[in-house]
Amino acid sequence: MKFFIDTADVDAIAELNDLGMVDGVTTNPSLIMKSGRNIKEVTKEICDMVDGPVSAETVALDADGMIAEGRELAKIADNIAVKVPLTWAGLKACKTLTDEGRMVNVTLCFSPTQALLAAKAGATFISPFLGRLDDLSLNGMDLIAEIRTIYDNYAFETQILAASIRSVNHMKEAALIGADVATAPPGVIKAMVHHALTDKGLEGFLKDWASTGQTIL
Ligand code: G3P
Repeated sequence: MKFFIDTADVDAIAELNDLGMVDGVTTNPSLIMKSGRNIKEVTKEICDMVDGPVSAETVALDADGMIAEGRELAKIADNIAVKVPLTWAGLKACKTLTDEGRMVNVTLCFSPTQALLAAKAGATFISPFLGRLDDLSLNGMDLIAEIRTIYDNYAFETQILAASIRSVNHMKEAALIGADVATAPPGVIKAMVHHALTDKGLEGFLKDWASTGQTIL
């Protein structure tokens, strides 16, 4: 499963990128707002740092506006994936932009039938928001699993990009189901390393080692 980092925080991306944990980055208007940066400047900086796809989201509501914004965002770098919402206008923009050879991430997906439409429109990525379904006491993972089945049934090449990930458990479940990509905030990726038994085991080893009086170097 590829890891995308869901942030526009350049320092946080750099830290994980140095560890080889970054296969791509996703941003959205809320994350750009949070960064306090200009969208083109910060996106360019991220694109220069990361080899994989960097999603940058359009904000127009009509297809022509999305297409124009998508073309403008795609000028930032070759690894831009234009992000459009899952509306009819978004699907139209997706079809036009992918026909032009650009990567498109169709976002704000909350149902398997929406995901089916995005695949038919040629989306490179579909972004089901599982955390926001969980927020409504629904099971976001069911959505990922249903999309996986549908895409596999018909060999759609659209990649499932599990989004709105909030926890380590979400990462585990997305990987078990076979999401192609999971995009998560840096804190979730970093939290994946922790286990109480690892800490306890290390403490025990170090205590025993100290009692030997030996050194390695
Ligand atoms: O990738 C989409 C993501 O940014 C949404 O996450 O936590 O705002 O639902 P969240």
